[in-house]
Amino acid sequence: MASKVRVAVVGLGFGAEFIPIYQNHPDAEMYAICRRNKAELDKAGDKFGIKARYTEFADVLKDPNVDAVHINSPIPDHGPHSIAALKAGKHVACTVPMATSIEDCKTIVELQRKTGKVYMMMETVVYSREYLFVKELYDKGELGRIQFLRGSHQQDMEGWPSYWPGLPPMWYATHCVSPCLAILGKPGTSAHAESVVCHGSGRIREDLIKHYGSPFAVESATFKIKDTDVAAEVTRSLFDTARQYRESFDVMGSKKSFEWQQVEGEEPVIHTLGKPEPEIPTRVKVPDYASRLPAPIQRFTQPAAIQDADHLSFLQGGGHGGSHPHLTHAFLQAVLGKRPALPDAPTSANWTMVGLCAHQSAMKGGERVVIPTF
Ligand SMILES: NC(=O)c1ccc[n+]([C@@H]2O[C@H](COP(=O)([O-])OP(=O)(O)OC[C@H]3O[C@@H](n4cnc5c(N)ncnc54)[C@H](O)[C@@H]3O)[C@@H](O)[C@H]2O)c1
Repeated sequence: MASKVRVAVVGLGFGAEFIPIYQNHPDAEMYAICRRNKAELDKAGDKFGIKARYTEFADVLKDPNVDAVHINSPIPDHGPHSIAALKAGKHVACTVPMATSIEDCKTIVELQRKTGKVYMMMETVVYSREYLFVKELYDKGELGRIQFLRGSHQQDMEGWPSYWPGLPPMWYATHCVSPCLAILGKPGTSAHAESVVCHGSGRIREDLIKHYGSPFAVESATFKIKDTDVAAEVTRSLFDTARQYRESFDVMGSKKSFEWQQVEGEEPVIHTLGKPEPEIPTRVKVPDYASRLPAPIQRFTQPAAIQDADHLSFLQGGGHGGSHPHLTHAFLQAVLGKRPALPDAPTSANWTMVGLCAHQSAMKGGERVVIPTF
């Protein structure tokens, strides 16, 4: 491999946001782009000055100049695309979720081990400024002992691309699952979940149900975290549920707790246990962590650096907490062997399978499902 990692970005909706970050990262060569629509592909290639352009994913994999692919294709393609890329000897970054079946998660973990290539699921939440802030508080001992964790991701997906209607809510649960597990990991690692119990609630419209056979408007799961006495609870909804967009996590500690804001635009709250005085709630302004990044990509933590400010996921997601440059940097450092990927393949599988197993549990009326380990 050349001293710079030659990257191909696949899928240029959300994926296009990462192009200028790779272009500005000192360790990357933003080499190729891929999307199916030729006119749109050329538009992006001209805009960013990228010569290697592909409408077929298979052709990206045949290009020996490509060291790493960053996959941002539709959800059902993540598993098959990651498997094909690892088999072709490429390093893989893939947007969430890892896959929509346990079988594909297993195959990716096995292929990653066999090939020795990097696989990293590009989970935005664990690189958001909010997560980095809470993790820092916990690691410094300010929260005390973690007593409980809670995440929610409620988003109305009406009008989103064709693979969304009727998607089981827990098939896309990594944004609320991942912070609950990552915070309990030693630096650079994550705790893993071992079993999950989930209840489905309410009912979406019949025309939505037919796509995946999943009837629930809301799925709510609790899961046990391996080698700890902590349990976490996560809630997901995608359709027919009135709630402003919310991608939240709360951490309840013995000394301090962090609680996500109720509505967008507010600040989160820190609760401090006061003895003998009562608990004291204080709104907190979360700092930015751009200083942890190479200087040329620091500005990409700010919403002003976002390419397509109209993309719904940014309007609703507030720019994903400034996570994109942190993710890009973490992936490149992993490819260069400077530090392990977080999340690595087994961790990405565990975060994804909490959701896949939760949906199984909901379909079985709330039976406990043990999460497989590979
Ligand atoms: N916070 C986050 O982590 C976050 C936010 C937004 C989107 N996403 C994920 O990113 C993915 C893409 O989201 P989007 O909103 O841009 O979706 P989209 O459906 O609008 O765009 C998909 C892109 O992939 C391309 N594509 C589709 N099939 C392909 C194939 N076989 N080969 C090559 N390219 C192909 C399309 O041409 C298009 O450019 C989704 O899986 C979504 O879940 C994650």
